[in-house]
Amino acid sequence: MQVSSFGVVGSGSMGNGIAQVAAQAGYEVTVFDINENQLNKAWTTIEKSLTKLQEKGKLKEAPQAILARLKKTTRLEDLKGCQFVVEAASENREIKFKLFRDLDAILPAGTIIATNTSSISVTEIASKTKRPDCVAGMHFMNPVPLMTLVEGIRGLQTSDACFKIVRTVAEAMGKVFVEAKDAPGFVVNRILLPMINEGFFALAEGLASAKDIDTGLKLGCNFPMGPLELADFVGIDICFAVCEVLHRDLGDSKYRPAPLMRKYVEAGWLGRKTGRGVYVY
Ligand code: CAA
Repeated sequence: MQVSSFGVVGSGSMGNGIAQVAAQAGYEVTVFDINENQLNKAWTTIEKSLTKLQEKGKLKEAPQAILARLKKTTRLEDLKGCQFVVEAASENREIKFKLFRDLDAILPAGTIIATNTSSISVTEIASKTKRPDCVAGMHFMNPVPLMTLVEGIRGLQTSDACFKIVRTVAEAMGKVFVEAKDAPGFVVNRILLPMINEGFFALAEGLASAKDIDTGLKLGCNFPMGPLELADFVGIDICFAVCEVLHRDLGDSKYRPAPLMRKYVEAGWLGRKTGRGVYVY
Protein backbone atom coordinates (compact mmCIF):
# COMPACT_ATOMS: atom_id res chain seq x y z
CA MET A 1 0.00 0.00 0.00
CA GLN A 2 1.28 3.47 -0.92
CA VAL A 3 0.54 5.91 1.91
CA SER A 4 -0.07 9.54 0.95
CA SER A 5 -2.54 10.83 3.55
CA PHE A 6 -1.63 10.78 7.21
CA GLY A 7 -3.75 11.41 10.31
CA VAL A 8 -2.55 12.39 13.76
CA VAL A 9 -4.72 12.19 16.88
CA GLY A 10 -3.61 14.66 19.56
CA SER A 11 -1.67 17.89 19.07
CA GLY A 12 0.44 17.97 22.22
CA SER A 13 4.24 17.93 22.03
CA MET A 14 4.38 14.44 20.53
CA GLY A 15 1.39 14.86 18.19
CA ASN A 16 2.54 18.17 16.75
CA GLY A 17 6.07 16.85 16.28
CA ILE A 18 4.79 13.74 14.47
CA ALA A 19 2.51 15.86 12.27
CA GLN A 20 5.37 18.22 11.39
CA VAL A 21 7.79 15.44 10.46
CA ALA A 22 5.09 13.65 8.43
CA ALA A 23 4.42 16.87 6.48
CA GLN A 24 8.17 17.38 5.99
CA ALA A 25 8.23 13.86 4.48
CA GLY A 26 5.60 14.91 1.91
CA TYR A 27 2.45 13.39 3.44
CA GLU A 28 -0.85 15.29 3.45
CA VAL A 29 -1.52 15.49 7.19
CA THR A 30 -4.74 16.03 9.16
CA VAL A 31 -4.33 16.66 12.88
CA PHE A 32 -7.26 16.07 15.23
CA ASP A 33 -7.58 17.43 18.75
CA ILE A 34 -10.71 18.02 20.83
CA ASN A 35 -9.16 21.26 22.06
CA GLU A 36 -9.01 24.07 19.50
CA ASN A 37 -6.63 26.18 21.62
CA GLN A 38 -4.24 23.27 21.80
CA LEU A 39 -4.39 22.94 18.00
CA ASN A 40 -3.59 26.63 17.59
CA LYS A 41 -0.67 26.31 20.02
CA ALA A 42 0.54 23.28 18.05
CA TRP A 43 0.59 25.34 14.83
CA THR A 44 2.73 28.01 16.51
CA THR A 45 5.14 25.34 17.74
CA ILE A 46 5.37 23.78 14.27
CA GLU A 47 5.97 27.16 12.61
CA LYS A 48 8.76 27.98 15.09
CA SER A 49 10.37 24.58 14.64
CA LEU A 50 10.25 24.80 10.83
CA THR A 51 11.76 28.30 10.90
CA LYS A 52 14.59 27.04 13.12
CA LEU A 53 15.22 24.05 10.86
CA GLN A 54 15.20 26.27 7.77
CA GLU A 55 17.75 28.66 9.35
CA LYS A 56 20.01 25.65 9.83
CA GLY A 57 19.54 24.51 6.23
CA LYS A 58 17.81 21.31 7.32
CA LEU A 59 14.66 21.65 5.19
CA LYS A 60 14.28 20.60 1.57
CA GLU A 61 11.39 23.05 1.07
CA ALA A 62 10.22 26.40 2.42
CA PRO A 63 8.24 26.17 5.70
CA GLN A 64 5.14 27.52 3.89
CA ALA A 65 5.15 24.57 1.47
CA ILE A 66 5.30 22.14 4.40
CA LEU A 67 2.63 24.01 6.36
CA ALA A 68 0.35 23.87 3.31
CA ARG A 69 0.22 20.08 3.73
CA LEU A 70 -1.08 20.38 7.32
CA LYS A 71 -4.77 20.66 8.24
CA LYS A 72 -6.31 20.86 11.69
CA THR A 73 -9.70 19.63 12.87
CA THR A 74 -11.73 19.13 16.02
CA ARG A 75 -13.88 16.43 14.34
CA LEU A 76 -12.51 12.90 14.50
CA GLU A 77 -14.61 11.99 11.40
CA ASP A 78 -12.32 14.25 9.33
CA LEU A 79 -9.64 11.54 9.59
CA LYS A 80 -11.86 9.24 7.50
CA GLY A 81 -9.83 9.76 4.32
CA CYS A 82 -6.43 9.07 5.96
CA GLN A 83 -4.57 5.93 4.95
CA PHE A 84 -2.35 5.86 8.02
CA VAL A 85 -3.20 7.25 11.46
CA VAL A 86 -0.93 7.76 14.46
CA GLU A 87 -2.60 8.21 17.82
CA ALA A 88 -0.67 10.50 20.18
CA ALA A 89 -3.32 11.41 22.75
CA SER A 90 -2.82 11.52 26.53
CA GLU A 91 -1.05 8.54 28.06
CA ASN A 92 -4.26 7.29 29.68
CA ARG A 93 -5.64 3.80 29.11
CA GLU A 94 -9.34 4.73 28.98
CA ILE A 95 -8.75 7.70 26.65
CA LYS A 96 -6.73 5.55 24.25
CA PHE A 97 -9.19 2.62 24.37
CA LYS A 98 -12.12 4.92 23.53
CA LEU A 99 -10.19 6.60 20.71
CA PHE A 100 -9.30 3.25 19.16
CA ARG A 101 -12.95 2.14 19.31
CA ASP A 102 -14.03 5.42 17.69
CA LEU A 103 -11.27 5.37 15.04
CA ASP A 104 -12.13 1.76 14.22
CA ALA A 105 -15.73 2.79 13.54
CA ILE A 106 -14.69 5.72 11.32
CA LEU A 107 -11.73 4.44 9.29
CA PRO A 108 -12.14 2.07 6.34
CA ALA A 109 -11.12 -1.55 7.01
CA GLY A 110 -7.42 -2.03 6.47
CA THR A 111 -6.36 1.49 7.47
CA ILE A 112 -3.44 1.19 9.86
CA ILE A 113 -3.76 2.78 13.27
CA ALA A 114 -0.46 3.15 15.10
CA THR A 115 -0.17 4.25 18.71
CA ASN A 116 2.59 6.44 20.09
CA THR A 117 2.00 5.01 23.58
CA SER A 118 5.13 5.02 25.74
CA SER A 119 4.00 2.25 28.05
CA ILE A 120 0.48 0.88 27.50
CA SER A 121 0.14 -2.62 26.00
CA VAL A 122 -0.21 -2.38 22.20
CA THR A 123 -1.90 -5.80 22.27
CA GLU A 124 -4.59 -4.50 24.62
CA ILE A 125 -5.11 -1.30 22.61
CA ALA A 126 -5.43 -3.39 19.41
CA SER A 127 -8.02 -5.63 21.08
CA LYS A 128 -10.42 -2.66 21.33
CA THR A 129 -10.76 -2.69 17.52
CA LYS A 130 -12.11 -5.10 14.93
CA ARG A 131 -8.82 -4.78 13.03
CA PRO A 132 -6.21 -5.79 15.64
CA ASP A 133 -3.93 -7.02 12.83
CA CYS A 134 -3.74 -3.40 11.55
CA VAL A 135 -2.64 -1.90 14.89
CA ALA A 136 1.00 -1.45 15.97
CA GLY A 137 3.11 0.72 18.26
CA MET A 138 5.09 3.59 16.77
CA HIS A 139 6.98 5.19 19.62
CA PHE A 140 8.56 8.51 18.66
CA MET A 141 11.01 10.33 20.94
CA ASN A 142 10.73 13.89 22.19
CA PRO A 143 11.50 16.33 20.50
CA VAL A 144 10.24 14.46 17.44
CA PRO A 145 11.77 16.79 14.80
CA LEU A 146 15.26 16.26 16.26
CA MET A 147 15.29 12.70 17.57
CA THR A 148 16.10 10.04 14.99
CA LEU A 149 14.55 6.98 16.62
CA VAL A 150 11.19 5.29 16.18
CA GLU A 151 10.64 2.22 18.30
CA GLY A 152 8.27 -0.12 16.45
CA ILE A 153 6.16 -2.41 18.61
CA ARG A 154 4.41 -5.45 17.29
CA GLY A 155 1.31 -6.40 19.29
CA LEU A 156 0.44 -10.08 19.51
CA GLN A 157 -2.09 -9.62 16.69
CA THR A 158 -0.09 -7.21 14.43
CA SER A 159 0.26 -8.64 10.92
CA ASP A 160 3.60 -8.74 9.07
CA ALA A 161 2.08 -6.57 6.32
CA CYS A 162 1.02 -3.89 8.82
CA PHE A 163 4.39 -3.87 10.58
CA LYS A 164 6.20 -3.55 7.27
CA ILE A 165 4.15 -0.45 6.38
CA VAL A 166 4.82 1.08 9.81
CA ARG A 167 8.56 0.60 9.24
CA THR A 168 8.33 2.03 5.71
CA VAL A 169 6.46 5.12 6.93
CA ALA A 170 8.92 5.67 9.82
CA GLU A 171 11.85 5.42 7.42
CA ALA A 172 10.16 7.75 4.92
CA MET A 173 9.95 10.22 7.84
CA GLY A 174 13.73 10.01 8.10
CA LYS A 175 13.74 7.93 11.26
CA VAL A 176 15.76 4.87 12.25
CA PHE A 177 13.40 2.04 13.17
CA VAL A 178 14.15 -0.47 15.90
CA GLU A 179 11.81 -3.33 16.71
CA ALA A 180 10.80 -4.02 20.31
CA LYS A 181 8.53 -6.61 21.90
CA ASP A 182 5.22 -5.52 23.37
CA ALA A 183 6.39 -5.58 27.00
CA PRO A 184 6.07 -2.82 29.63
CA GLY A 185 8.16 0.20 28.60
CA PHE A 186 9.27 -1.64 25.43
CA VAL A 187 13.06 -1.19 25.28
CA VAL A 188 13.87 2.53 25.53
CA ASN A 189 11.63 3.39 28.48
CA ARG A 190 12.37 0.07 30.22
CA ILE A 191 15.95 1.28 30.55
CA LEU A 192 15.59 5.08 30.53
CA LEU A 193 12.87 5.45 33.18
CA PRO A 194 14.62 3.43 35.92
CA MET A 195 17.59 5.80 35.40
CA ILE A 196 15.41 8.89 35.75
CA ASN A 197 13.68 7.31 38.77
CA GLU A 198 17.07 6.62 40.36
CA GLY A 199 17.90 10.30 39.84
CA PHE A 200 14.91 11.18 42.09
CA PHE A 201 15.98 8.60 44.73
CA ALA A 202 19.50 10.09 44.67
CA LEU A 203 18.07 13.61 45.06
CA ALA A 204 15.77 12.55 47.93
CA GLU A 205 18.64 10.80 49.71
CA GLY A 206 20.79 13.93 49.38
CA LEU A 207 23.54 12.10 47.50
CA ALA A 208 24.19 15.27 45.52
CA SER A 209 22.36 18.43 44.45
CA ALA A 210 20.05 18.25 41.42
CA LYS A 211 22.59 20.23 39.41
CA ASP A 212 25.45 17.94 40.39
CA ILE A 213 23.42 14.78 39.65
CA ASP A 214 22.71 16.13 36.16
CA THR A 215 26.24 17.42 35.58
CA GLY A 216 27.61 14.07 36.75
CA LEU A 217 25.63 12.12 34.19
CA LYS A 218 26.09 14.69 31.42
CA LEU A 219 29.85 14.97 31.71
CA GLY A 220 30.51 11.53 33.14
CA CYS A 221 28.52 9.61 30.54
CA ASN A 222 28.27 12.11 27.69
CA PHE A 223 24.47 12.25 27.92
CA PRO A 224 22.93 15.37 26.34
CA MET A 225 20.81 15.95 29.48
CA GLY A 226 21.04 14.68 33.04
CA PRO A 227 18.19 12.50 34.38
CA LEU A 228 16.43 15.27 36.34
CA GLU A 229 16.73 17.81 33.54
CA LEU A 230 15.34 15.18 31.18
CA ALA A 231 12.42 14.45 33.55
CA ASP A 232 11.54 18.16 33.47
CA PHE A 233 11.81 18.11 29.67
CA VAL A 234 9.64 14.99 29.17
CA GLY A 235 7.16 15.90 31.96
CA ILE A 236 7.42 14.45 35.45
CA ASP A 237 3.79 13.23 35.24
CA ILE A 238 4.67 11.22 32.13
CA CYS A 239 7.81 9.79 33.76
CA PHE A 240 5.78 8.87 36.83
CA ALA A 241 3.05 7.17 34.75
CA VAL A 242 5.64 5.03 32.95
CA CYS A 243 7.32 4.11 36.27
CA GLU A 244 3.93 3.02 37.65
CA VAL A 245 3.30 0.82 34.60
CA LEU A 246 6.76 -0.78 34.89
CA HIS A 247 6.18 -1.43 38.61
CA ARG A 248 2.65 -2.77 38.25
CA ASP A 249 3.08 -4.85 35.09
CA LEU A 250 6.54 -6.28 35.79
CA GLY A 251 5.64 -6.84 39.45
CA ASP A 252 9.18 -6.20 40.66
CA SER A 253 9.83 -3.77 43.53
CA LYS A 254 12.99 -2.54 41.82
CA TYR A 255 10.73 -0.47 39.55
CA ARG A 256 8.84 1.32 42.38
CA PRO A 257 8.46 5.03 41.59
CA ALA A 258 10.48 7.32 43.86
CA PRO A 259 8.18 8.93 46.46
CA LEU A 260 9.77 12.30 45.64
CA MET A 261 8.64 11.97 42.02
CA ARG A 262 5.08 11.32 43.24
CA LYS A 263 5.28 14.48 45.40
CA TYR A 264 6.29 16.60 42.41
CA VAL A 265 3.28 15.26 40.50
CA GLU A 266 0.97 15.95 43.46
CA ALA A 267 2.32 19.51 43.65
CA GLY A 268 1.72 20.05 39.92
CA TRP A 269 5.47 20.62 39.48
CA LEU A 270 5.57 18.75 36.21
CA GLY A 271 8.64 20.31 34.62
CA ARG A 272 9.12 22.83 31.84
CA LYS A 273 5.47 22.75 30.78
CA THR A 274 4.27 24.09 34.15
CA GLY A 275 7.22 26.42 34.70
CA ARG A 276 8.47 24.39 37.63
CA GLY A 277 9.74 20.86 38.12
CA VAL A 278 13.04 19.87 39.66
CA TYR A 279 14.19 23.27 38.34
CA VAL A 280 12.34 26.58 38.04
CA TYR A 281 11.91 27.95 34.48
N1 CAA B 1 12.56 21.84 16.36
C1 CAA B 1 13.58 22.52 15.80
N2 CAA B 1 14.65 22.93 16.48
C2 CAA B 1 14.70 22.65 17.79
C3 CAA B 1 13.66 21.96 18.46
C4 CAA B 1 12.55 21.55 17.69
N3 CAA B 1 11.54 20.88 18.21
N4 CAA B 1 14.00 21.84 19.77
C5 CAA B 1 15.19 22.43 19.93
N5 CAA B 1 15.61 22.92 18.74
C6 CAA B 1 16.84 23.63 18.45
C7 CAA B 1 17.13 24.70 19.49
O1 CAA B 1 16.39 25.86 19.20
C8 CAA B 1 18.61 24.90 19.32
O2 CAA B 1 18.87 25.79 18.25
P1 CAA B 1 20.14 26.78 18.31
O3 CAA B 1 21.34 25.88 18.20
O4 CAA B 1 19.97 27.63 17.10
O5 CAA B 1 20.06 27.52 19.59
C9 CAA B 1 19.10 23.50 18.90
O6 CAA B 1 17.94 22.75 18.51
C10 CAA B 1 19.81 22.79 19.99
O7 CAA B 1 19.04 22.85 21.14
P2 CAA B 1 19.66 23.29 22.51
O8 CAA B 1 20.87 24.15 22.31
O9 CAA B 1 18.54 23.80 23.36
O10 CAA B 1 20.10 21.98 23.21
P3 CAA B 1 20.83 20.68 22.73
O11 CAA B 1 21.96 20.95 21.80
O12 CAA B 1 21.10 20.00 24.01
O13 CAA B 1 19.78 19.82 21.93
C11 CAA B 1 18.11 18.18 22.48
C12 CAA B 1 18.46 19.66 22.37
C13 CAA B 1 18.12 17.53 21.09
C14 CAA B 1 16.71 18.14 23.05
C15 CAA B 1 19.17 17.45 23.36
O14 CAA B 1 19.29 18.11 24.60
C16 CAA B 1 18.79 16.02 23.64
O15 CAA B 1 19.02 15.14 22.83
N6 CAA B 1 18.22 15.77 24.84
C17 CAA B 1 17.75 14.43 25.22
C18 CAA B 1 16.41 14.19 24.61
C19 CAA B 1 15.89 12.83 24.92
O16 CAA B 1 16.50 12.03 25.60
N7 CAA B 1 14.71 12.56 24.41
C20 CAA B 1 14.03 11.30 24.67
C21 CAA B 1 13.10 11.53 25.80
S1 CAA B 1 12.30 10.05 26.24
C22 CAA B 1 11.03 9.93 25.19
O17 CAA B 1 10.73 10.78 24.41
C23 CAA B 1 10.25 8.69 25.33
C24 CAA B 1 9.15 8.64 26.27
O18 CAA B 1 8.20 7.92 25.99
C25 CAA B 1 9.19 9.29 27.60
